[in-house]
Amino acid sequence: MERLYLGIETSCDDTSCAIYSDERGVVVHRTAAQLEHLRYGGVVPEIASRSHMRTLMPLYETVMAEARVALASLAGIGVTNGPGLTGSLLVGLSFAKALSYAGGVPLVGIHHIEGHILANALEGPLDLPALALVVSGGHTQLMHVEAIGRYRIVGATRDDAAGEAFDKIGKLLGLPFPGGPAIERAAREGSRDAFDFPRSLRGTGTYDFSFSGLKTAVRLRVESLGALTPSLASGVAASAQEAIVDMLVEKSVLALSEARVRHFYLAGGVAANGRLRERMSEALEARHVPVSWPRPEYCTDNAAMIACAARHHISAGRTDGLSLNTFPRGALSSWA
Ligand code: KG4
Ligand code: ZN
Repeated sequence: MERLYLGIETSCDDTSCAIYSDERGVVVHRTAAQLEHLRYGGVVPEIASRSHMRTLMPLYETVMAEARVALASLAGIGVTNGPGLTGSLLVGLSFAKALSYAGGVPLVGIHHIEGHILANALEGPLDLPALALVVSGGHTQLMHVEAIGRYRIVGATRDDAAGEAFDKIGKLLGLPFPGGPAIERAAREGSRDAFDFPRSLRGTGTYDFSFSGLKTAVRLRVESLGALTPSLASGVAASAQEAIVDMLVEKSVLALSEARVRHFYLAGGVAANGRLRERMSEALEARHVPVSWPRPEYCTDNAAMIACAARHHISAGRTDGLSLNTFPRGALSSWA
């Protein structure tokens, strides 16, 4: 019999609910972006949690009505319980607990990074073992995925996340938030070698990343340029994007030389970047490793990936009780 899972994601600024079927895949997925943050050029935690409080209940009612499913007939509820903003996570977790209690439905807390990795499973069965590069506003991690539930961190950022670098550089260039898509658009008009920006940790044996040196180099360069014309801004955007992509590709290729994998998966908001996809495909094709990524709505934060993860946990018998708590940070560990 078909089993349906509800996913809830409120770890940062997007409020998202989805229903996932073990037979049909994603049945309904709705994400509401919080536009208030545009005015501040970044996510304001207090505004984010208040907005989740307003949006979550109607969003839940919409997905349940569209999927024509009653609470008590769900096979499980998955909710992101970390890492993320505590106030935001608590809104989703408290709501999920209330639903679990009222409907007698199993509950499971999902690590946000596992959600991003499993966004790739929404597109078809995963080809494992694989390497996954999770690149978002809050995370930059290279993970070895032996099986669903068996993860090992290969490398991670030592300072800013790749998305955070895009966002901060976007701000320096006066581009709208979030910086990633805005830089990608501006970069189309500029030359990738207009400016020579640093590639930190290049040529060292580490699989780790570092983006704060790039951010500082861009800030100093922008300050030295004085008036920033649109053509100078697109040159900075194209050159900075290339530096970020170079660092991501170099460490991914290096990690492949040590790990035997069948596939390479991109995940997280920065996986929506066309230049990253293009460069990663070129580099890995030469090594005969196929590369794929989720469709754009499953790259950025979404509840479909959380519902899919819940299906795997719950069908393996892994559930949580009502004492489940949130955690602001912490690495993804294996559970299978
Ligand atoms: O996964 P996500 O929605 O949220 C987090 O978990 O952080 O990722 C958001 C990040 C932002 O930093 C945004 O600038 C970046 O993803 N992003 C992009 C693109 N689209 C979103 N970065 C580069 N190019 C893009 N096209
Ligand atoms: Zn995310």
